[in-house]
Amino acid sequence: MQCIVCRDKSKTFESGILKNLGLEVVKEYEVSNFFSLETYEAVMDSKMLQIPLFGIFYEEGVGGGGVIERFLAYAIEKKENLYYYPKPNVYLQVDSVALFALFGGHTPERLLIETFYKEQLLSTQYRNNLHKRLAQKFHFSSKRITLEGRPLSNLSKDWKLFEDNVANTLDITTRAKEFYPAPVHINLGTINKCNLKCSFCFFFAPEYVKTHTTDFFKEYRILDSKIVYAIMDYSAKHDSIIDLVGPCEMLVDKRIPDFIKYGKDAGVRWISMTTNGLLLDEEMADRLLESRLDSLSISIDAATPETYAKSRGGNFEKLVRNVESFLTKIEKRKVDIYITLSIILQGGAEEEVEMFKEKWSAYKAVNEIYVRNLVEKNNEGMEVSHDRNFDTSCRYTCQKPWDEIHINPDGGVMPCCTMAGAIGWENKVMGNLYEESMDAIWTNCITQKMRLDLIKGDFREWKICKDCEEWSYRSVEQENGDVLSPCIEFVKVN
Ligand SMILES: C[S@@+](CC[C@H](N)C(=O)[O-])C[C@H]1O[C@@H](n2cnc3c(N)ncnc32)[C@H](O)[C@@H]1O
Ligand code: SF4
Ligand code: SF4
Repeated sequence: MQCIVCRDKSKTFESGILKNLGLEVVKEYEVSNFFSLETYEAVMDSKMLQIPLFGIFYEEGVGGGGVIERFLAYAIEKKENLYYYPKPNVYLQVDSVALFALFGGHTPERLLIETFYKEQLLSTQYRNNLHKRLAQKFHFSSKRITLEGRPLSNLSKDWKLFEDNVANTLDITTRAKEFYPAPVHINLGTINKCNLKCSFCFFFAPEYVKTHTTDFFKEYRILDSKIVYAIMDYSAKHDSIIDLVGPCEMLVDKRIPDFIKYGKDAGVRWISMTTNGLLLDEEMADRLLESRLDSLSISIDAATPETYAKSRGGNFEKLVRNVESFLTKIEKRKVDIYITLSIILQGGAEEEVEMFKEKWSAYKAVNEIYVRNLVEKNNEGMEVSHDRNFDTSCRYTCQKPWDEIHINPDGGVMPCCTMAGAIGWENKVMGNLYEESMDAIWTNCITQKMRLDLIKGDFREWKICKDCEEWSYRSVEQENGDVLSPCIEFVKVN
């Protein structure tokens, strides 16, 4: 049988697997990105063939071991398009799709829409409408078989289809490094101090602090520079992206621009940061812009000083001045940095969202506005409010321990933000960077046990996981083409 293959420009392709399956590769495409015009071209060509297309974006040595073959065999039997794409880009939720049958119907059209969307030529709303219109016009189900996050471990309901073929769970955990050589996404917080005490903050709000049971915030903790540099090198080596966010205000740590600069010089693909913006004065703004930070998210949370005073309690006028001046610098100097501004729906901010969008979308330097739902916790650190549109009735395996890590200022490594957000109540870690390397922690026995326990649904040792709903976090494409994201509305403005 004949097939077409797409491969990543920088990767070698293991053609042996296809030969073993009796497939003859009639054409190979080199593509730079999964969502690209080259892939579109390949999809169009593949329509002539018996086996439409295998998009295999392979790294030699990764993804072998029988699992890929089994998926391919399934695709041959069903004549499905099948893609294996282990390298996510910065749009974690979308491009970390690793293995999937693309979209079911109207693959080329949908691929083209997604390609333009990723290139920021379409707004989210316009892109969703296009998907919706396609689905309506051709009366097809837009439900796609995808697995967002790193997939082979995932026993989600999306993959019921493949259930019989899926490698057994033990195999996946023992061979974790083969499939998941390193986390895709590293959250890094370098200190445990903040210049505010926002009323909704799990770390510093007096109401929450009263109920804290760990000693994490009792002493000042600051991560050793050597560890930060080692994390930057590790990320560059493994192509992980770094998000500077933690139980703190990052800009209280004046070393931050130097860390970013080091990381970018070392080759980290993407470094982002979240800040409350109050310490973003002229000097810090210049240092950050010179550091080559890729993206900055500023939590503003209000459009009036009164609302700001109630929830965040800082100097609103100063914040607005800082942000305006920062945005103007970006525009004047034409710096390539992705800016998002966020507002949490609480404390009166609900009524100010339109004013907020209007004011800040006037700046060309602002790319996106996040409208976040408020998350609340009980006095044991468990989340109690979720305004999420997700069906969590069918629990499937959480992707986070395969995808992500969160590094705390005391060197502790956790699998996700939910656990890190509960650090005032439970400081349970997979390992500590003062004792073990990142590489060792990634597959040490605690991490492996956690992965296996979560696959088996055994939460006895994982209190936070038991009631967590974060495992269902993913942007889900609905039948009508709308994309739902659980707790943030992303508004692309420029
Ligand atoms: C914990 S903060 C740390 C970074 C920085 N200090 C800041 O406030 O931007 C990270 C992000 O979480 C958001 N956040 C904090 N508490 C929240 C809550 N209870 N519900 C939803 N978002 C929250 C903040 O607005 C911020 O955008
Ligand atoms: S600025 Fe950020 S870390 Fe500080 S109290 Fe507010 S939400 Fe928490
Ligand atoms: S189940 Fe929740 S708490 Fe546990 S690893 Fe996943 S996201 Fe984190």
